[in-house]
Amino acid sequence: MRNFLPRMSQVSSAAFNNTVLRDGHQSLAATRMSVAQMTPIAAQLDAIGFSRLETWGGATIDVALRFLLENPFERLATLKALASKTPHMMLLRGQNLVGYKHYADDVVEAFVNASAKRGMDVFRVFDALNDPRNLIAAVRTVKKAGKIAEGVICYTTSPVHTLEAFLKLGDDLVEIGCDTICLKDMSGLIGPHAAAELVAGLKKRHPAIPVVLHSHDTAGLAATAYYAAIEAGADMVDTSIAPFANGTAQPDTVRMLEILKGHPRAPQYDIRALTEAREYFNGVFAALSKFTNPANDRVDSDTLTYQVPGGMLSNFRNQLKEQKMTDRFNDVLAEIPHVRQALGWIPLVTPTSQIVGSQALLNVRFGRWKNFSPAAMDIALGYYGRTPGKVDPEVQALAAKISGKDPVTIRPADLISPELPNLRQELQKNALPETDEMAVLYAMFPEQLKIYHKSLSAPPPAQSEKPITITTPAHATPKEQTSPTRSHFAITINNTRYNATVEEL
Ligand code: CO
Repeated sequence: MRNFLPRMSQVSSAAFNNTVLRDGHQSLAATRMSVAQMTPIAAQLDAIGFSRLETWGGATIDVALRFLLENPFERLATLKALASKTPHMMLLRGQNLVGYKHYADDVVEAFVNASAKRGMDVFRVFDALNDPRNLIAAVRTVKKAGKIAEGVICYTTSPVHTLEAFLKLGDDLVEIGCDTICLKDMSGLIGPHAAAELVAGLKKRHPAIPVVLHSHDTAGLAATAYYAAIEAGADMVDTSIAPFANGTAQPDTVRMLEILKGHPRAPQYDIRALTEAREYFNGVFAALSKFTNPANDRVDSDTLTYQVPGGMLSNFRNQLKEQKMTDRFNDVLAEIPHVRQALGWIPLVTPTSQIVGSQALLNVRFGRWKNFSPAAMDIALGYYGRTPGKVDPEVQALAAKISGKDPVTIRPADLISPELPNLRQELQKNALPETDEMAVLYAMFPEQLKIYHKSLSAPPPAQSEKPITITTPAHATPKEQTSPTRSHFAITINNTRYNATVEEL
């Protein structure tokens, strides 16, 4: 009888997920790549054979609605139709979905089901506090929908973030039903030694669970960390395509292939196809020059000192400028570890990065905890979940006193009653379609959704001398054809979206 088990000597190669359509432009171009800039290259990316294409989630949904006047769900469906061979992946903030606070379980379920229906395959789910209870509702729904649930370990450094603590979190993720584990290093802090140690530890405890390393090349560590992780048994790493790669984004695919050249686990991807894709993205990068910043492309080991995500640093500079506190930049950065420690050494990732950053600024400006932000108080009181370390008891008592709320230890979503019925009423009140997609978008971005929806039926702007840019996918197919001579298209003119009817004369 033939033995179909792989031979022990057979070494499976590692694989690359590609992030150019999500984290690549989120990190380097303020998330501004539009679906019209993605469609011409989607099929070619699909043909390269990456293990996954990251196409959605993170900030892309907020930005699509707020600035690009795009329906995020239609973006997903469009990309899925053009790139159907490669599994699509999204980044989901656990109980925060793609928003900034906790939502009720019924909203989490509706969001996951709606995304799965539009073609999402892999849900990479994280919680800013690394509290696995905040992943349970999302993971359960993903599994029920027959999709892949990837649990995330947010990597950070602090006295409580030991190897053992991270591996214990890995055990918890497997326990709640995650199919795969992602080690997410949002600030690009992980070096080769730490990466290898963590990956080897996870693989030893859970040999059947695929492990992914996601990092940023901000300090120039990501590529060496990836190499070490692959040596230690990582199944996948995340790479992007230049110029939406390197710097504060993921290492570029071609460079990573070269670093792994000759390695028994090196994957194979068509360099010519990758070069062509790069040429295409050069044009997109140039078109987005208003949103790119040369400082983000540079390798800068400063992040290792500050230990804050790259996006947070640029936000910070803006905030300080607005408050006329530019000269206090170093004081505010020095205050961050103090705030983190007081709040139980929480990792810095959306939304905690913004909350900790703002509180550090307030502490410097008004004195420590003299002006306690409501969100920071909620963290201190347990309303975001269990913190990795203990919250400073004095800070917690102060938060309780000011807010009048009691500290809690239960899963935060257990405090939120179902929200969908009320959301449906809101949709009706605002004459918005009463669908699950609209309900979940309304829960997170009510004002943007109203503006987006208005833009759909807006009359064309008055005639002017201004040049008009019309954007449609390269090979636009009508959304609907109501008669042999009448077709309906969604088109974007000068960033405003219209439902256009094209009639053959
Ligand atoms: Co990232």
